[in-house]
Amino acid sequence: MRIDTANDKVIAEAAAALRHGDLVAFPTETVYGLGADATNGRAVARIFDAKGRPSFNPLIVHAPEIDDHRRYVVFEERAERLAQVFWPGALTIVLPRRENADVADLVSAGLPTIAVRVPAHPVARDLLRATERPVAAPSANRSGAISPTTAAHVAASLGDAVDRIVDGGPCDGGLESTVIDLTGKTPMLLRPGLVTFDALRDALGEVAVAGSGAAVTAPGMLASHYAPDLPIRLNVHAAIPGRREALMAFGPDVPAHFDMIRNLSPTGDLTAAAAELFAALHALDRQDVDGIAVMPIPETGLGIAINDRLRRAAAPRSGATT
Ligand code: TXA
Ligand code: MG
Repeated sequence: MRIDTANDKVIAEAAAALRHGDLVAFPTETVYGLGADATNGRAVARIFDAKGRPSFNPLIVHAPEIDDHRRYVVFEERAERLAQVFWPGALTIVLPRRENADVADLVSAGLPTIAVRVPAHPVARDLLRATERPVAAPSANRSGAISPTTAAHVAASLGDAVDRIVDGGPCDGGLESTVIDLTGKTPMLLRPGLVTFDALRDALGEVAVAGSGAAVTAPGMLASHYAPDLPIRLNVHAAIPGRREALMAFGPDVPAHFDMIRNLSPTGDLTAAAAELFAALHALDRQDVDGIAVMPIPETGLGIAINDRLRRAAAPRSGATT
């Protein structure tokens, strides 16, 4: 890992590193972000590995201008208004993903939505402009640790799990961006942050708070991940005679007699498997079969997050989730 004070040369090198698939931490006006090229599933998978995240939370996509985001998500009237008032700045907006969006499925954990933000920090904007790709970035800390507001915090928390840190001094905000979901009828505040509830209500008229209404289940479950329609059987070593299943395989030793096979990584590479996971789930779920069978995946490194996701996908449905 290297730390460099931000200047034109350092930003150009950091942009090249991002395009190459490296992880680059950079300052925003809220907290330091751990950035990866959002179009590169493997680079995005490395974010989860570096953070030691036990599950795949969807990530925020950062770009330097609203117009860049138009290529990935659909802006309706309320989104235009929020962008006008709060961007660049500490507001993240969840919007419907465009069908042809060049953003890795892992970024939004298989959801049909993407969270987008235009940060205000000049170093972040220069880096995003130079990268010329959407950048997925969670806060640049190990999972469960405090969000970093200096380059030193990032270095202490992530160490060599991050390739480069661009030092732009301490973040002014120190608190994450506010996350609002505009994909439903009523705008829904998913995470409080630097932009206040009152400011959002002034701009939108009506804002619901996640977790406060009867229709809403547990907070945190709101970002309900993609749930397959087909039943899922885990830790599968062999086909069941008479049952038509599509197989999510992992590694070189694939059992026979499945109707269709999609291998997350024929070499047994967990980073590659994480990058493939959601696209594979979607593809298998579209098959005309009785269910999806999943081979065992080692419970180490990214395998922990992969298995967490698969266990949720296999769990009985409670009804109201989408
Ligand atoms: O200030 C910030 O927002 C920082 C800087 C780096 O931009 N980033 C950050 O990212 O805090 P992270 O990953 O720690 O938090 C992202 C939040 C999570 O609560 C996640 O569930 C939500 O945004 N989120 C992301 N994509 C979503 C989606 N498609 N639908 C619903 N929620 C989403
Ligand atoms: Mg965080």
